[in-house]
Amino acid sequence: MFLLTGARGAVASALHPLLRADGHAVRLGSARPAELDQPAVHCDLRDPSTFPAALAGIASVFLYAEAAHLTEFLDAAIESGVEHIVLLSSSSTLDPDAATNPVAKSHLDAELALSDAPMPVTVLRPGAFAGNARSWAWSIRAGRPITLPYPNAYTDPIHELDVAAVAHALLTSPRHRGRHHTLTGPQTLTFTEQLRELAAIIGHPIEFEPVTPAAWRAEMADHLPAQYATGLLDYWARCDGVPTELTDTVERVTGRPARPFGEWVRDHVHEFAAAR
Ligand SMILES: NC(=O)c1ccc[n+]([C@@H]2O[C@H](COP(=O)([O-])OP(=O)(O)OC[C@H]3O[C@@H](n4cnc5c(N)ncnc54)[C@H](OP(=O)(O)O)[C@@H]3O)[C@@H](O)[C@H]2O)c1
Repeated sequence: MFLLTGARGAVASALHPLLRADGHAVRLGSARPAELDQPAVHCDLRDPSTFPAALAGIASVFLYAEAAHLTEFLDAAIESGVEHIVLLSSSSTLDPDAATNPVAKSHLDAELALSDAPMPVTVLRPGAFAGNARSWAWSIRAGRPITLPYPNAYTDPIHELDVAAVAHALLTSPRHRGRHHTLTGPQTLTFTEQLRELAAIIGHPIEFEPVTPAAWRAEMADHLPAQYATGLLDYWARCDGVPTELTDTVERVTGRPARPFGEWVRDHVHEFAAAR
């Protein structure tokens, strides 16, 4: 049986039907199981007391990178006889500042916590999720300009369905197991290019306003802890004018090419539609 932690998450939600379609038995684990519209168990990666019951009888785990109690999680997984863990980490762990950038460090800590695991641990290191475009949805719906501290920073937007498809392949086949996989979308696009594509698909122009990093940090003060804002700004500064190196991991592991950014937008276009 498979345990999907963080079952309310976008990747876990996309992974669940893929495993079900194969006829696999799946247990959904969530910090808030009551909020799922399907049966789920209480598995809160910040509460080790929930681990033993969630892991009982489980052979393979899809795990979000919440590092705080991974030692306890691993102990409970060993106790339950878990044979394989797929960890959703991040390509930020490969960045030169990974040990100090809080966004990257939380993922690095999760990878390190599992590095001595007795069972195979397969590490997914995706780059930027296409779903990050959701952070623009409110401004677009409200007709407000989007503020961008680094409009020409490149990312490699990857569709959550592709991250889920890779996880599905790795959970269900021994090929590529126990390795680290860096995943990217099929294109490297600046934020300006992403907004242009988004505008073409939603059918109206989207304005953006370049702002200084300090102004953006101030704007985000109520929404994002300061150290994460700094981590993101440092990441974008490094990507400013620098195309992301792409990988063919999605196609190599799943047998089908990674979905372009425009496909993610079409799949989620309703999220950007202004209320009328
Ligand atoms: N965004 C990026 O660019 C990026 C890049 C590389 C790696 N990653 C990794 O991918 C992770 C995000 O994956 P994702 O997109 O699948 O997750 P997500 O949708 O952001 O959800 C993350 C977790 O938060 C909980 N959650 C989901 N919806 C919620 C809601 N409405 N209210 C409160 N909690 C909710 C879920 O856990 P419970 O069900 O247990 O509550 C879920 O697993 C990041 O945390 C990071 O580790 C992201």
